[in-house]
Amino acid sequence: MTVSLEQLRRCHFAVDLGAARTRVYVKGAGLVVDQPSAAAVNTRTGALIAVGEFAEQMTGRTPSYIRVVRPVSGGTVVDIEMAQRMLRHLLGDKMRRSLRRKPRLRAAACTPHDADPLAQRATIETLVGLGARRVELVDTLIAAAVGCGLPVEQPEATMIMVCGAAATQVAVLSLGSIVTAERIPVGGEAVDHAIVQHLRHQHELMLPSQSVRPLQIALSGNGLSPDGPVSTEIHGRDVATGLARSVKIDTAAVRNAIQTPLTAVLDGIGKVLRVCPPDLVADLADRGIMMVGGSALLPGFDQMLRQYTGMPVHIAERPDICAAQGIGAMLEGKIEPLTLNPLAP
Ligand SMILES: Nc1ncnc2c1ncn2[C@@H]1O[C@H](COP(=O)(O)OP(=O)(O)OP(=O)(O)O)[C@@H](O)[C@H]1O
Ligand SMILES: [Mg+2]
Repeated sequence: MTVSLEQLRRCHFAVDLGAARTRVYVKGAGLVVDQPSAAAVNTRTGALIAVGEFAEQMTGRTPSYIRVVRPVSGGTVVDIEMAQRMLRHLLGDKMRRSLRRKPRLRAAACTPHDADPLAQRATIETLVGLGARRVELVDTLIAAAVGCGLPVEQPEATMIMVCGAAATQVAVLSLGSIVTAERIPVGGEAVDHAIVQHLRHQHELMLPSQSVRPLQIALSGNGLSPDGPVSTEIHGRDVATGLARSVKIDTAAVRNAIQTPLTAVLDGIGKVLRVCPPDLVADLADRGIMMVGGSALLPGFDQMLRQYTGMPVHIAERPDICAAQGIGAMLEGKIEPLTLNPLAP
């Protein structure tokens, strides 16, 4: 399955269904949706109560008959029907009507690198349910590289790292294609989980609900950065008494706690570099690694990569929306049709 830029240019909208966030780019209108991939459902009636930001806010605060579901997990659509309902709501009536007016609606979607046929099928089915007659799939790595302005079509190597919620994908690109790539099933969610576990074990503290992003609490004072404050205060619930309690946590200890998931990412980078042809590795030493994806904003992550690889590390300007912007640029025909092959070989 290959998709040409020509076919992408004919698409009317593009979707990046992520484990954490859903983004929709509509040709001519730009990025119209950037919301959490969550939906709140009334389990008695099956009615949808809220989607996106509102649904995420309800996580852990709902009565038993309301459930917050996440139709995308691990980079794959796991509940096609719910993903369709969520997308319909996120798009809104006006946008949906304008898309429905297109005689042959075409859609594009980002798929994780090495997504299996079943996962690809689930993404296609989701968009067909939204009225698309044809769906083009684009490798997230290529979309993100285009989105952050890497010169992917040049005969020099560039290294990109897409740090998502469910996974981290690393690739070396040259001449518009992926030379080597690796998908590591560790992302922002694993980092959050490591922090939650750390607070539980070391401070016997449970965070009030999943919606309180543990990371963001620690980050509010730039706590994970080596040059940030040495301690930060966190509010939670005592594991034993069940009462609310706040503790001062040592940010160095939090940094240690997230080392374990992050070393898996470093391993993946090592693997990619080891199988990469030496000529390209020489290019990479100059150009370095470009980090994109929401988790690229994890303070101190770039520094850790710099130390491990000894290469320059850059964070894209808007790392979280790079993939959506990249696929959008392909739809708008802003990419030179050189040798760019939007799908991995
Ligand atoms: N400022 C920040 N600091 C640290 N982590 C952040 C920040 N902003 C977002 N994140 C993390 O980034 C992740 C979301 O990134 P992104 O939007 O790229 O994920 P996604 O595309 O939904 O996931 P995937 O591509 O893995 O399916 C979340 O895990 C979130 O915790
Ligand atoms: Mg993503």
